[in-house]
This record gives sequence, C-alpha cells and structure tokens, in this order.
Amino acid sequence: MHKFVFFGGKGGVGKTTVSSAFALKCARAGQRTLVVSTDPAHSTSDVFDQQFDDQPRPVDGHENLHAMELDPAEEVEAHMMEIKRRMSDQVSPAIVNEIDRQIELAHQTPGAYESAMFDRFIEVMRESDDFDRVIFDTSPTGGTLRLLSLPEFLDDWIDRLIEKRAKSIDLFEKAAIGEKEARRKLEEDPIIAHLQQRQAKFEFAGQTLRNDADFYLVLNPDELSIRETDRTIAQLRDYDLGVDGLVLNRVTPAPDDDEDGRGARYLRDRVETERERIQVIREEFDVPLVGTIETRIEEVKGDLLADVADELDIDVAAEAPA
Ligand SMILES: Nc1ncnc2c1ncn2[C@@H]1O[C@H](COP(=O)(O)OP(=O)(O)OP(=O)(O)O)[C@@H](O)[C@H]1O
Ligand SMILES: [Mg+2]
Repeated sequence: MHKFVFFGGKGGVGKTTVSSAFALKCARAGQRTLVVSTDPAHSTSDVFDQQFDDQPRPVDGHENLHAMELDPAEEVEAHMMEIKRRMSDQVSPAIVNEIDRQIELAHQTPGAYESAMFDRFIEVMRESDDFDRVIFDTSPTGGTLRLLSLPEFLDDWIDRLIEKRAKSIDLFEKAAIGEKEARRKLEEDPIIAHLQQRQAKFEFAGQTLRNDADFYLVLNPDELSIRETDRTIAQLRDYDLGVDGLVLNRVTPAPDDDEDGRGARYLRDRVETERERIQVIREEFDVPLVGTIETRIEEVKGDLLADVADELDIDVAAEAPA
C-alpha cells in the first residue's frame, strides 16, 4: 500500500463513494488521511454532509480525516489566469490582447481540463507532508488516462523548447560578436526557468505515480462496466501502471429463500446474472477483486459509509514491498 491511492472507473460507478469509504477506513486505522474529490456534482460534500473547498479541511466527527474538493471549472480558470499573467510579463503590450484570446481559446479544449486538474493533483501530492495517505477520487477513465500520459508528452516537448531557445540565443550571440549580454540572459531567462520548473514538476509526477501510488478500479456488475474495466487495465499498462485491485459496487442483494413474490423472483434472476459476471471478473482479470459492495436502498453516506468501508478488503496497513 502506497501513500497515494487512486480510484478510477466509468462515470457514476461509485468512485466518490468508494474513495470516501476507503479514506474512512485509513483514518480509523490511525493514518492521517486526505481524500481529494474532483467531481463538481455529487461529491465528498454530499457523502459527509459538509461543505469542502480546494484546501484540506478536517471532516467533522472523524478523527484523522481531511477532505478537499477541486472544482474543474475553477481550476481551468485559475490555470488560464496564471498563464495570462506570465505571458503579459513576457510580451509587448501591443500583442497582449491577441495572446489572451489565443490562451482563452486553448482553454476551451478538453485537454485544458485534464491539464489544469493534473497540475493541481501534482501540487496536492507535493504539499502532502501532513498526511500518510492521500486518496484521489479521479475523474472518469478516459480523461484520467490522458492525464497520466501527460508527463512524458510534456517532457519531450519542454526539452525541445529549451533546446530551441538556447539555439536562438546562441545565434543572437554570434551575430552580436563579443556581446556577452545574450549568454547572461540565457542563464536568467525566465521562460526557460519556468519550463524547467514544469519539467521537474512532471518528472516528480511520473515518478510518484509509478513508485508511490496504487490504482484501484471501481466497476458495476454489468457488461459495459466490465468491458470498460478491461480496456482501462490495458491502457494503464501501456503507461507502465499496474492496477492493484477491483472494487465491485452495486451488487444486487439476494432475497430470502422462502420469498417467492414477483419482486423476489426478479431479484433472484438478477443475482444469478450478476453471479455469472462476477465469475467472469474472477477468471478473466488477473487483478484481484478486493471489495464487493451491495446496492443500498439509499445513497451511501453517514453510518452506511462505515459499513461500506468494512466491505473493502484492502489492507491499509500493508507496506509497499521494498
Ligand atoms: N452501493 C451503493 N448503494 C446505493 N447507492 C450507491 C452505492 N454506490 C453508490 N451509490 C450512489 O450512487 C450515486 C453515484 O455514486 P458516486 O458519486 O460514488 O459515483 P462516481 O463514480 O463518483 O460518479 P461520478 O463519475 O459522477 O463522479 C451516489 O448518489 C451514491 O450515493
Ligand atoms: Mg464522483
């Protein structure tokens, strides 16, 4: 078990529920735990019936437990403002407006959301000295994966940019023979300094994800969800990331044997179908099933959360193999 734990999965399968339950489990085991939620709709605030914001706040009534909520729209906005501010320091006032417009356009693309969120994830990971465990309730599968591929992609890109910029300063220096000003400028070039900072940041992220993070996938006992999980495991492998376990959520409870009404027959059929699917999950995935959670009548919050936590067979104390 590593310090950073991610719960992925398709939209609505129960990521927020399972991450909150798991966070509670860790906190109860005495670990200083932070749960980070990323979805603007149903989120940790609903689960704990308490409003959170983008800084870690103690969860009422639970020792060792903190929560924070990142709002994607706000993160994109903040990310954009920061880039605008940085650019306006660098370019002539005459083209600031045009550049602002370009930046705004760039931030309307789907990639901007991932990029802004990932930036915040890295910050949270970097500033997590106060916690033993940081649990991320990630955004749906596809986006999460694109986001995980960013470090390498950006690494290359930044390397090329730095090289180009160094070359152009070189040329400038040759043109202005004996002019040492350009060389001095390269050393304190704010753009290169910024790019190098970003590079270090993404390098940290790549290493942390590979060496200090666990990945769990939440799924439901339906064909679509199972297929999606299969794809996600394969995609994560493409990025050298292994899935540590599957959590099956929303399993139908069986009726009592002596019940034979229409409702009971429906449930029995449903349970049988799910039993076959669970069989498939056990046989065809080489990732262990670490939790099976029944469908509750109501939303999972309050006392129910502790019950769900008990259904997670993830050893919170286990240390990472050396
Ligand atoms: N086992 C369960 N029994 C009953 N309700 C559940 C169960 N698991 C989740 N729910 C409810 O289903 C809804 C969706 O769950 P949740 O928010 O955890 O999914 P999610 O994967 O985080 O969704 P999103 O992709 O939108 O972030 C919530 O209202 C939650 O309370
Ligand atoms: Mg969620």
